[in-house]
Amino acid sequence: MDKQAELEKLEAEMAADVTLPLRESNLVFGEGNIDCEVMFVGEAPGQNEDRLKRPFVGRGGQLLDRMIQSIGWQRADVYITNIVKRRPPDNRDPSPEEIAAYRPYLARQIEIINPKAIATLGRFSMNYFLPLAKITRDRGRGFLVDGRLIFPLLHPAAALRSTQMMQMLEEDFKKLPAVVRGEITAELPPSIVIAPARKEEKPEKSKQSKLF
Ligand code: URA
Repeated sequence: MDKQAELEKLEAEMAADVTLPLRESNLVFGEGNIDCEVMFVGEAPGQNEDRLKRPFVGRGGQLLDRMIQSIGWQRADVYITNIVKRRPPDNRDPSPEEIAAYRPYLARQIEIINPKAIATLGRFSMNYFLPLAKITRDRGRGFLVDGRLIFPLLHPAAALRSTQMMQMLEEDFKKLPAVVRGEITAELPPSIVIAPARKEEKPEKSKQSKLF
């Protein structure tokens, strides 16, 4: 089966899976170049995405498009999707249960598309791949997870709220062509660091001994 047929089968399976949460919203499967080098993975669809059944088509999506163009690429060059494929009510954050329920579908989607790198948008998507990563510390760095490069980026919606975050997103985006060319050093994912045992303290000399 070719990639397109495999993705269509996966989407049909998702649509038919009555155990998935948020079924009152539309399924926003993802779109773009299925032979892409970079796949963007966001959090969950918002109101506009739910209405149009397409990922990143609101204000955040327009910013994402501009960022993609700023490095000489087109939206049609990349694939765009989310960790949770249906809109949570009132645009609330996706719950851990919702993320877990959609996890096997995203895993298969990634396997089928097989991109060189995954650029995560926001901390929920970053933590899907890198559970111990911190967005302010780890954005704009490349991490090797299961043989694939994960490149955390800030969420476009966060960049729209702060000039400083906008600058950071622009700065990180500029590194994407180097990521694709394999010029970014892939680091090991952040993990728990066990602090070295403290040296045993020498017992204080008895003050009394000075008296004798
Ligand atoms: N925010 C996301 O994380 N995903 C979308 O598709 C739209 C907004």
